[in-house]
Amino acid sequence: MERRSFIRIMGVGFAAATLTSSLSSCSTRDDKVDYGWNGPSDSESDIRLKVLAYAILCPNPHNKQPWFIKLNDSQHLDLYVDQTRLLPETDPFARQIHIGQGCFLETLTIAASGLGYQAEIEYFPQGEYSNTVVENLPVARVVLTKKTAINVDPLFKYILQRQSNKREYDNSRLSPVQKSQLQALPMAMQTSLTLQDSAPEITYLQQLLTEAMTIEVGNKARDLETIKMFRFNDQEVQKYRDGFGIEHSGVTGIKKFIIEGFLLDREKTEKDPSDFGKQSVDMTRSICESSSSFAWITTEGNSPLQQVQVGRDYCRLNLTTTAMGLAQHPMSQVLQEYQDMLPLQERFKQHFNIKAGQTVQMLVRLGKAEKTAHTPRRLVSSLLIG
Ligand SMILES: Cc1cc2nc3c(=O)[nH]c(=O)nc-3n(C[C@H](O)[C@H](O)[C@H](O)COP(=O)(O)O)c2cc1C
Repeated sequence: MERRSFIRIMGVGFAAATLTSSLSSCSTRDDKVDYGWNGPSDSESDIRLKVLAYAILCPNPHNKQPWFIKLNDSQHLDLYVDQTRLLPETDPFARQIHIGQGCFLETLTIAASGLGYQAEIEYFPQGEYSNTVVENLPVARVVLTKKTAINVDPLFKYILQRQSNKREYDNSRLSPVQKSQLQALPMAMQTSLTLQDSAPEITYLQQLLTEAMTIEVGNKARDLETIKMFRFNDQEVQKYRDGFGIEHSGVTGIKKFIIEGFLLDREKTEKDPSDFGKQSVDMTRSICESSSSFAWITTEGNSPLQQVQVGRDYCRLNLTTTAMGLAQHPMSQVLQEYQDMLPLQERFKQHFNIKAGQTVQMLVRLGKAEKTAHTPRRLVSSLLIG
């Protein structure tokens, strides 16, 4: 795809979208397909499958949905990493994959409370592995116990609304009340949340995160890993039920119809990802420049257990910002561990006085924006193993 023609069409699309409502209906994802966001079906009676129908809606890197579930007796299940769904190029030590496992466990626990159950979680019940290689051992054992009186987690009602909002924001800052609400969130031990909204630091971050994306797309294997999860059209979404597309950056209606129908081409993009890379950098620059609040979560250590616990905290942060009416978007490039990123990561850590032994696990932008479409989810049945 020619970059200039892409940008021109993006511009044309904006104007045309307001004119053509009939065309926009043929470019919107088939609303009849259930991609998970209605929660469990009313006829489902197995509590394990009910909580899983909520858990799959959690945030997770590249929407890989890297989980396997082993159902044991009627109230007990084990969660494993699906090792066919790792991101070796951009997440070489599966750190983000384990954060995703934590998001899964937190969403499951919140959902269980909403359904009158307590979820007891035992982490790594057959032993924790190292933080460099994923082993075929369960990440967690979950036991669900029916309770006659249980405090429903107030975040339960936001599970079906939560999302990672990748569109441009409106540059608004968080209010002092919003900042104190977020700072008051409980975090696991040795874990802290930093909020950043000072003007010079925001300018610094906007440039740094754009530079991080420039580094990320400077390698074909990394590009191909992302392109593999990028959904070029609705047919791909229906087929794979994972990944993400332009819709999740807020491109809808006729603009989506034109871009997906006439400009995006998987074969050409995979052959030469350079234009895809340039678009990613341009989009990163513009979404960063539209954002005036950022936040990050730091841990003292970096074990798989801590990564899972960060995932639980991160998921609560994402649900809390949903409850507060704020948009939130993770931007992980500068945190990634492949060699080319390490010098920039070091600069980021030095600039913000983050100690060498500390790991920044999640970095997000926060602000105000219209909602986007939800990313799809696979069926719970496809996660179950013998
Ligand atoms: C550990 C982790 C890292 C992520 N990093 C990024 C990122 O760098 N860029 C991005 O656009 N989204 C990132 N995301 C958001 C995912 O793309 C998103 O959660 C996934 O596509 C599912 O969409 P949803 O959160 O809207 O349901 C990340 C999410 C997690 C849990």
